[in-house]
Amino acid sequence: MLIFPNRYRRFALDDVVLEVNGLSKHFEGLVALNALSFNINKGQIVSLIGPNGAGKTTFFNLVTGLIKPTEGNVKFMGRPVTRTRGRVRWLPPFIITAVLTIIGTAVALACLGGTWYTCTLGSVAVAIAFTVVGYLRLPPTSLRPDQVAALGISRTFQTIHLFNQMSVLDNILVGRYTQTRSGFFDSIFSTPRKKREEREGFQEAKQLLDFVGLKVGFLENAASLSYGDQRRLEIARALAAKPTFILLDEPAAGMNPIETIHLMELIHNIHDLGITVLLIEHDMKVVMGISDHVVVLDHGEKIAEGSPAEVRNNPRVIEAYLGAAN
Ligand SMILES: Nc1ncnc2c1ncn2[C@@H]1O[C@H](COP(=O)(O)OP(=O)(O)OP(=O)(O)O)[C@@H](O)[C@H]1O
Ligand SMILES: [Mg+2]
Repeated sequence: MLIFPNRYRRFALDDVVLEVNGLSKHFEGLVALNALSFNINKGQIVSLIGPNGAGKTTFFNLVTGLIKPTEGNVKFMGRPVTRTRGRVRWLPPFIITAVLTIIGTAVALACLGGTWYTCTLGSVAVAIAFTVVGYLRLPPTSLRPDQVAALGISRTFQTIHLFNQMSVLDNILVGRYTQTRSGFFDSIFSTPRKKREEREGFQEAKQLLDFVGLKVGFLENAASLSYGDQRRLEIARALAAKPTFILLDEPAAGMNPIETIHLMELIHNIHDLGITVLLIEHDMKVVMGISDHVVVLDHGEKIAEGSPAEVRNNPRVIEAYLGAAN
């Protein structure tokens, strides 16, 4: 049985898991995303929809640390995932500078007997050095993708990104990277920890293959799987990181109607594990059938959000995306 860690423990039922605030991304002159703001609550299945080029995948890339935002920020369970440099980031080092300068001058005058201006110059130099170090030590503007994964966010890609020359098993084990502690030393000396983690990885990979409904050999090459199976393997790899929040970029693309129904069941099962789901999807049957909440983008702007019924009947959404037939 698959067991997922309960990272939500400190959250009440309706708490916000993902907080997006004024998020923008410009590629040279092109505004791919413009001041996007919305929240996702714990345990929701949320769909992000919109016409081609609306900025949906760009949003996934921002949240998972593949690209950095031009402006705005994203918080996951209260922790910043992306953050643009603002004046506030300079403030703590400057306050420390001022305090250090005053203390340094006082100490130098009292204990060392120097003249007040040589002491001040010395302590200003120390304080400036402290400011620079303080600034350099501040967190980067975006977490790296592996740091995002360690926070409990996993994703799949619009175009399948498997390690094609690796086996099904190895593809899943790569996904477990954030769950293992063995390092170089453990591998060289094949320590008990390494052996235990290998055993656990093997067991869990088997469970994950069952869970996503993949009936293929462990040692088959990922590239030799059918398209639908490759999509499932990508989902299994994403789940191997034991996420709290999973982002699926057009998982039903290229699937036939039967495969799509099975995929919807799988998304429900993922949700039942306690994982919050954000889905990009063009298939409106999937979106309307599965979502608790829908966010609609057009040309990088949010044009609507609400329940599937509200969004389906929104005149702006009909005009920009759904068309009158829906
Ligand atoms: N790395 C990049 N460099 C330059 N432009 C980019 C880059 N990535 C995306 N874009 C542009 O940003 C816009 C939004 O692209 P994005 O891939 O986010 O759209 P999308 O909503 O996912 O579309 P689709 O439904 O076709 O997948 C598009 O105009 C795209 O050409
Ligand atoms: Mg896309």
